[in-house]
Amino acid sequence: MIGLTLEGITRRFPAEGPGETTEKTVLQDISLAIEPGAFVTVVGPSGVGKTTLLRIIAGLDHGFQGRVAWSENRQPKIGMVFQEPRLAPWLSVIDNLLLIAAPGARAEALDLLDLVELAGSENALPRQLSGGMQRRAALARALLAKPDLLLLDEPLISLDSTRAERLRSHLVGYWQARKPTIVMVTHDFVEAVELSSRVIALAPESGRIALDRTIPLPHPRRVTDPAEAALLDELRDLARDWPAPSHTTEEGEAAPRASNAAMRLLTI
Ligand SMILES: Nc1ncnc2c1ncn2[C@@H]1O[C@H](COP(=O)(O)OP(=O)(O)O)[C@@H](O)[C@H]1O
Ligand SMILES: [Mg+2]
Repeated sequence: MIGLTLEGITRRFPAEGPGETTEKTVLQDISLAIEPGAFVTVVGPSGVGKTTLLRIIAGLDHGFQGRVAWSENRQPKIGMVFQEPRLAPWLSVIDNLLLIAAPGARAEALDLLDLVELAGSENALPRQLSGGMQRRAALARALLAKPDLLLLDEPLISLDSTRAERLRSHLVGYWQARKPTIVMVTHDFVEAVELSSRVIALAPESGRIALDRTIPLPHPRRVTDPAEAALLDELRDLARDWPAPSHTTEEGEAAPRASNAAMRLLTI
């Protein structure tokens, strides 16, 4: 298991607009130690720097100040699921998964597609799938690579609530079975409270950490239980001044067919 430490991360971008060149600070002096095997969710209003933070951790952004350090001083294998699923458009879903997988990974790839409720879509081209389905395919691809660190940028956004519920429990099951360290951005406080072992909220304007709570509760969790409900209230209080997020629900997708493949994955 891999842990990481963020030391004084600050990111400034050139601000748009006429006149003098100014800078806008999106992350300011973010210091965090993330334990090996933690499941951290990051919440915050749109534009606060959540995606930027994931990109910095992934090594995709080099314009920041501060430092990202790994436990045991070794570069981990990182799996990232971007907000916009980056599938190769000319490859089928299964070939997108197998593109970077070890030889012989086909059976596991199919199991993972089942886990994300895409069984039966393996031969489809990305453009034949909805945005939410593409994102789930990207999630399966990231899981197939068996990362030490999984960086997820709103992977379950725009799903209907029952499917989101099932995928959340699959994700927790995967995390418990395989023990990757996970940093997941979400706008959904219920998701943060139900899933993660720690929730971090970024504050608008300042770009600093507004809240950092460990959630030592066992799974499955119910947000109606007192400890969960209290944390949810705290997050909602904090978010009172945040601009409302916009979200849509995916339509026109058939219910998944029943299968044991998902369960097989979660009990390895
Ligand atoms: N490459 C970039 N150049 C200029 N501004 C950027 C760049 N990347 C992100 N930003 C700005 O930084 C802010 C934070 O972006 P982002 O990390 O995507 O926020 P979030 O994921 O929290 O919605 C936004 O205002 C965005 O416009
Ligand atoms: Mg973002």
